[in-house]
Amino acid sequence: MADGNQVHASWDREAILSLFDPASGRLDRRIYDDEGIYQLELQRIFARGWNFMCHESQIPNSGDYFINYIGEDQVIVVRDGEGQVNVLLNTCRHRGNALCRAEQGNAKSFVCSYHGWNYALNGDLIGVPGLKTYYRGDFDKSQLGLAKAAKVESHLGFYFATLDPAAPSLHDFLGDVGRSGLGMVAAYGDVIVLDGIQKNVIDCNWKIAVDNLFDWYHVMYSHASANSTGFVDLAKILQPDNQLVMLGEYGHGIGGPGIPEAMQAQLDMIGDEQRAEMSKSTPFRLRPASAKDLMGATGVRSLGHPNIFPNLWITLNGMQLCLRLPRGAGATELWWFTVVPKDSSPEQRRNAVRSATHLFGPAGLLEQDDGENWSQSTRASRGVVSRSLGHNLQMGLGHDQAIAGPDGGAAIATCISEHGQRWLYQSWTEWLAAKDWADLKANHSAPPQGTV
Ligand code: FES
Ligand code: FE
Repeated sequence: MADGNQVHASWDREAILSLFDPASGRLDRRIYDDEGIYQLELQRIFARGWNFMCHESQIPNSGDYFINYIGEDQVIVVRDGEGQVNVLLNTCRHRGNALCRAEQGNAKSFVCSYHGWNYALNGDLIGVPGLKTYYRGDFDKSQLGLAKAAKVESHLGFYFATLDPAAPSLHDFLGDVGRSGLGMVAAYGDVIVLDGIQKNVIDCNWKIAVDNLFDWYHVMYSHASANSTGFVDLAKILQPDNQLVMLGEYGHGIGGPGIPEAMQAQLDMIGDEQRAEMSKSTPFRLRPASAKDLMGATGVRSLGHPNIFPNLWITLNGMQLCLRLPRGAGATELWWFTVVPKDSSPEQRRNAVRSATHLFGPAGLLEQDDGENWSQSTRASRGVVSRSLGHNLQMGLGHDQAIAGPDGGAAIATCISEHGQRWLYQSWTEWLAAKDWADLKANHSAPPQGTV
């Protein structure tokens, strides 16, 4: 379904690969504004890749649905009568009307508000007014069911979908680093996602919002005022000299504070109760021993931020997820999902929501700072001279060693750096340059080893 063969006239493979130079860290500013690049992203990244849809707890029963997007294609994620999760394009096959207008709910079927075509939960067209009278029986309902995602799969209860039948399995797409990132959310036990997704639009390119999650350089400066309120103690979280960056195949990454190997070896010798007790005196929730099964031996040492390429951010301690949905080259819609333990009390859930809304989202102390910088970085990179200057992502370049972890991927133990951002943009150029999955599989970079 993803048409990767229509290349905008000015963006052939060579031109795309030149947009980011991994050897110098120079990034071409046009990637945040060019309409041709944006259209290629929709085709070659969003329609081709696996996109996060929802958590299983959001659609537990037959008929439960949740509306999401694959790029700018709106989709209905719905559980049918057989328990199967379907991802259906939310556009009527008659004249294109959006079928489902609510953000989530429960339905027996989806009836179009324009002329009344009726679709089953698996997308089949089951009702057409005037079939005998106006169409005079000359109509094949079986040909006009809703368009569906090519593949829908889940990992640890997180559902993803791709529009491209040639995509590898979700397991292979995520690789060790992507699976480790999702494992961070599930590491403490069964979780649910609470109703009420916080949504807001920021005037910035989606990639600026994504690369910021690897950016621990800005934390003490941008968020100085948030820090001074006492609501968060960023100095305790930051650990600027104990950073662990993990780089995964196809652009996944995790960046931020890490547990040094020697300290992890000590943690491995103590029980879960003692870890829980120790967590009370740190901003981090030390994970139970079983987390290693979900996150791997390297992943379990990360206390940072995973990004599942292209646009799913998992926050510190796995308590929130955020999708950065593209809304044109110059706008991004942020969707904040709040995660709580399945067995949490009503009071614990209220506290989780309170904490989530105070940190991120439109009223969040941190995101008000971030959103302003992202918006201004997008706007100020747009002028005819400004856009020729390039962005600088050279921090730490050539000063660190990437080692292959026992779990695959690459791990870099370092201080604050821009390794995560460089890997993101290098991978992004490779996704954009490849004309289909076969091309991407053959020509993408493996996570680096040695000096990075
Ligand atoms: Fe949906 Fe006509 S557009 S029934
Ligand atoms: Fe920030």
